[in-house]
Amino acid sequence: MGVQSLSINILLLAFLLEFVPTQRSVGNVTAQEVAGDEFTRSKRDEWQLPNRVMAALDLKQGIHIADVGCGPGYFVPYLSRAAGQGGRVFAVDIQSRMLSLVERQAARLDLDNVDTVLSKETDTRLEPRSVDLAVMVNVYYELGAPEALLENLSKVLETEGQLAIIDYRVDKNAESVGPPLSHRVAQERVIAEAERAGFRLLKTHDFLPYQYFLLFELVSTGGEGL
Ligand SMILES: C[S@@+](CC[C@H](N)C(=O)[O-])C[C@H]1O[C@@H](n2cnc3c(N)ncnc32)[C@H](O)[C@@H]1O
Repeated sequence: MGVQSLSINILLLAFLLEFVPTQRSVGNVTAQEVAGDEFTRSKRDEWQLPNRVMAALDLKQGIHIADVGCGPGYFVPYLSRAAGQGGRVFAVDIQSRMLSLVERQAARLDLDNVDTVLSKETDTRLEPRSVDLAVMVNVYYELGAPEALLENLSKVLETEGQLAIIDYRVDKNAESVGPPLSHRVAQERVIAEAERAGFRLLKTHDFLPYQYFLLFELVSTGGEGL
């Protein structure tokens, strides 16, 4: 091997050591997962338009918000800042590894009004009437029993609380981002199921290129027991 190719190999090795993420574990979460999440976030901003979503939600400081199916916490920093010092964000998910990512992010960004909640498929495990707004982004199409979860939300939301559902549209124009069209849930079905659980559609926003954005208010509060 010539001197030139040896130095190229050394440079290549140095590059790999520097940039290939290791499997170092942080709680339940690997450094690779964190790096992957950051990459996904910046690509997603282009179509998720988080600042427009937050402007449309028009939240007041002090509000209590549940991010149901929070995943790794894409919306958590936005919700946390909107809720402010006197408010709280309950980051709810059925997967504990997602909550580990949220906790790590909250520590890194110094978000001290965020609580993580390990939930069950049809039970958010939130206190009755403890939340002003529940958001579900890209979760509905994953739900095994959506009506039972909506029923639970009708009990954890305050009277006249609100529910925002953002999920992938079923039309061909929205196909390039998100799960296969056959796995998605049409917005008409979401509206019908939410209405059966005691919600009324307040508003639909149509500025997102791949998703519908539905805002409901709770009109029938259901029973008190969870
Ligand atoms: C595609 S991810 C979306 C995560 C996040 N909302 C976002 O927009 O990036 C869906 C998340 O919903 C969670 N999930 C699925 N069913 C759920 C349920 N019944 N209750 C709470 N979380 C649920 C999954 O564990 C997963 O983290």
